[in-house]
Amino acid sequence: MAMIVRKGTVPSTPHTEFYAIPNVLAREEIHGSYGFSGAWSRKLHVRFYPTEQVKPPRKGDFDLVPEFPPEADVLQPYHIFTGRVPFEGDALSSRKPIVHGPRTSISVSKPMDSMPDDTFFRNGERHEVYFVQDGEGVVRSEYGDLKFRKDVYVAIPKGTTYRIDVTSPKAWFLLVESIYPITFAPHYLNKEGQATLMSPVVETEIETPDLPPFRDERGEFPIDVKHSGGKITRITLGHHPFDLVGWEGALYPFVFDIKSHHGIAREIHTAPPMHQTFQSGNVPHSGFSLCSFVPVMAGWHPQEVPAPYAHFNVDSDELMFFCNAFYGAREGVIEEGSFTFHPGATPHSPQGNAAQRSLAARGKVQARLAVMLDTYFESMRITTQGFAYRDPAYVLSWSENVQRAQPAGEGWESPSA
Ligand SMILES: [Fe+2]
Repeated sequence: MAMIVRKGTVPSTPHTEFYAIPNVLAREEIHGSYGFSGAWSRKLHVRFYPTEQVKPPRKGDFDLVPEFPPEADVLQPYHIFTGRVPFEGDALSSRKPIVHGPRTSISVSKPMDSMPDDTFFRNGERHEVYFVQDGEGVVRSEYGDLKFRKDVYVAIPKGTTYRIDVTSPKAWFLLVESIYPITFAPHYLNKEGQATLMSPVVETEIETPDLPPFRDERGEFPIDVKHSGGKITRITLGHHPFDLVGWEGALYPFVFDIKSHHGIAREIHTAPPMHQTFQSGNVPHSGFSLCSFVPVMAGWHPQEVPAPYAHFNVDSDELMFFCNAFYGAREGVIEEGSFTFHPGATPHSPQGNAAQRSLAARGKVQARLAVMLDTYFESMRITTQGFAYRDPAYVLSWSENVQRAQPAGEGWESPSA
């Protein structure tokens, strides 16, 4: 994140170990990246966080190490029905990796409950972005309380100690993890950190945590820390981790509403770089682009074909989550929560007669909503849990021999258009 934020009480002079703030003595901690993005924050704790542990660390009661079926080694496109994954547990216990790579991973979490009281999670190895497909709640971290709702992204930097409280009967998350920071695409920002005037995103449209009064409580506060490829170690602090009197900096959790990605329409087809919201890694050499396919007017040129052309992303695996079934190129194949995985080693295209049907969409607003992630020079693998919810017919869904119901055409001619 480029924007500097300050919450609570933070003296202006950095790098002083202790601060006498009214009624408390606060201790400074720097949370950030010395290497990659350089983004960091100063946090002022009233306890000796994070060094005080009151129990020896132990192996966690669960782990998030991905497992792979033998079929993961057979090259093919996949379609995973995440809508059919059951709702259960809390945001952490219901977390299921569905595709995984050395630097990027994607999971689904469909909780019905908040995490148990006074328990916390910290991803010590990957930055996270949740996309909220459904539900409401609060991500509580040392940075404060960050409310979320349907159709927002929640970005949580690596190393943040947090918990998720669900305030709706159930919630549904798509979770993207990267070893690199996940930020707005840097080419959208000028040297001052402001969005350039042609950018589809504006950095001031993020929502930042509200810092409540600090928690000065002693006890046993377990934190399940993810590290070393999905292993979990439980550490136990002797004080509540949310003990900040204030913080400032450019590294913090934030919310960004997918509808704040302001789509750009052209007379002719607009290629996916226009849909990019976030970026991770040293693009285009590593990491990924994360795109938001929001409703936007299809090209209106008399020879425009709104359906995407067949394409062969030789350096990228393409991963796509469909928030609704109104995606014309896959209409009749996908449902809400469908997740497609197209490996870079094979081309793909719209199914059936989608290209012909799309001609009716010229100049119309499409009702699609989807999140896409393209890796750079990183091959992903389907996990055992992703494979369990796959569409076994998907690899043959382009075959002219496949009989399919005639789609209604709503994917191109939006109900709202
Ligand atoms: Fe594609």
